[in-house]
Amino acid sequence: MCGIVGILAKDAAAPQLVDGLKRLEYRGYDSAGVATLEGGRIVRRRAEGKLRNLEARLKGEPLAGHAGIGHTRWATHGAPTEANAHPHASGPVAVVHNGIIENFRELRAELEAEGAVFESQTDTEVVAHLAAHALKGGASPREAVAATLKRLRGAFALAFLFEGEENLLIGARRGSPLAIGHGEGEVFLGSDAVALAPFTDAVTYLEDGDWAVLTRSSIEILDEAGDKAERETVRASVASVIVDKGSYRHFMAKEIAEQPEVVGHTLARYIDMAAGRIRLPHGSDFDFSKLDRLAISACGTAYYAGLVARYWFEKFARLPVDIDIASEFRYREPPLVPGSLAILISQSGETADTLATLRHCKAQGMKIGAVVNVPTSTIAREADVVFPTVAGVEVGVASTKAFTCQLATLAALAIKAGRDRKVLSETDEAKLVSSLIELPRLMVEALHLESEIERLAPVFAKADDVLYLGRGTSFPIALEGALKLKEISYIHAEGYAAGELKHGPIALVDENVPVVVLAPFDPLFEKTASNMQEVAARGGKIVLLTDEEGAAHAGETLATIVLPKAFAFVSPLLYAVPIQLLAYHTAVFMGTDVDQPRNLAKSVTVE
Ligand code: F6R
Repeated sequence: MCGIVGILAKDAAAPQLVDGLKRLEYRGYDSAGVATLEGGRIVRRRAEGKLRNLEARLKGEPLAGHAGIGHTRWATHGAPTEANAHPHASGPVAVVHNGIIENFRELRAELEAEGAVFESQTDTEVVAHLAAHALKGGASPREAVAATLKRLRGAFALAFLFEGEENLLIGARRGSPLAIGHGEGEVFLGSDAVALAPFTDAVTYLEDGDWAVLTRSSIEILDEAGDKAERETVRASVASVIVDKGSYRHFMAKEIAEQPEVVGHTLARYIDMAAGRIRLPHGSDFDFSKLDRLAISACGTAYYAGLVARYWFEKFARLPVDIDIASEFRYREPPLVPGSLAILISQSGETADTLATLRHCKAQGMKIGAVVNVPTSTIAREADVVFPTVAGVEVGVASTKAFTCQLATLAALAIKAGRDRKVLSETDEAKLVSSLIELPRLMVEALHLESEIERLAPVFAKADDVLYLGRGTSFPIALEGALKLKEISYIHAEGYAAGELKHGPIALVDENVPVVVLAPFDPLFEKTASNMQEVAARGGKIVLLTDEEGAAHAGETLATIVLPKAFAFVSPLLYAVPIQLLAYHTAVFMGTDVDQPRNLAKSVTVE
């Protein structure tokens, strides 16, 4: 993970580095640092914790140099201390790094045997020492980087700064993303276009294996073999996006509230509203009729969107779905059919496990579809067909609006598949589409339940364990509810298929355990209601999320939250709203860092 920036500026680089890093904090926020050339010498400022600590440090001890590199860290090797914060330096070289150097132990042992003294526990520091070693042997900075890259195994993006070289930055990309920003007499490096947004929207994305030698007036891109490479410069529309919290206390609150709008935008890309039919976006058309199976893979919340989609593709298109957590997919060694479709789901489009799965499936001859929110991301660029979500920039680490937009996209794809495979009639399609069109209005109604849900926060804040139960498509939403709660409130929570409760987890239930039951009044309601009685009989505190009919049929609960009646197909999108609000208000009540919870990062670019 981690975010990196590099700048050859016209004036002081440090404030610009910090500006770029602010936009990369979603990649990690354990510690941060910058290095600039002060009178030709490398000077670093680093600080533990959030970027604001580095900013405070720079206020007291400003840097004036015009060339610099910066880093915001999500710790992989070594605790999040100042000593482990980037940039790492050895003699005349400083380096920032995103990713993992897999062979760092061997390299470190080798360098230490030659007399190198290490200051940190990071894998990154070997990179600085390797480059410094090559320089000592008479190599130029460019030769030193070439020699260093040859020694590294793993996935990484790097930016190098050299003492005495006021007009030189070298960047390299293998596995992790890196982009060059083109300015007027200035040049920039960044983990993505968002980091470069304050400076330029003219961006060149490096391809895997590329490295680049930058000066204020020249850019030379080389491929892995060291041959010159031409890479396109594009206008990154993301550069114009200014993201702020508006009147909300947290990004998460704003992003939850935005859902009716962004789900509406996403649906508008997939639905011909006038005809009430599915119409995939231009360039994203796909014919599902020839498929025998569909593979879906993703991580975390995006995986839960895939779990819901499995119910839809199997029910509406009679298309068997294999679904895997992306970090496990390859290890299962599933037999993959060349020409069949794999759908990867990702908000960031940079999740390392999801990207590795994409490449694995591609190498086996599969066609790759990506449900992705960041259109410039690596996953979007490497997919054969992109199915865009239109959630806008999601800043809160806990995914909310990206999740419901993923569901909206997958719902449309499942209907398209049903039509292509002649399982759904035109009338079926019209019915399902009209339930999707109604959804943003129903989500607005669900948001009106906020104060009722907020009142439950003190109960949840006291709990050590919380269970979430659901059946059918409510089961993945139960899993998502538990994930939301644990990641931002740090309360242990588990989601279960309601029928599974009696096979073990019911042993956990007593009067201290809140049990959230997601049960719209559908054909599965009665069975879930029986499971609820099993919980009630053991003193569990039930919070029931249902609709009016469900509420009328439910027994006694601690609280019953009544959602608007919806067609069963769209319930997962609707019921996502109250479980997000419940997690949010519990975390706010507890005073945790809602938008940047401990140990997490928005974009997980390590496997
Ligand atoms: C949880 C959350 C994560 C992400 C997961 C995948 O709220 O945000 O579980 O869903 O890390 O990230 P993307 O969608 O960027 O691939």
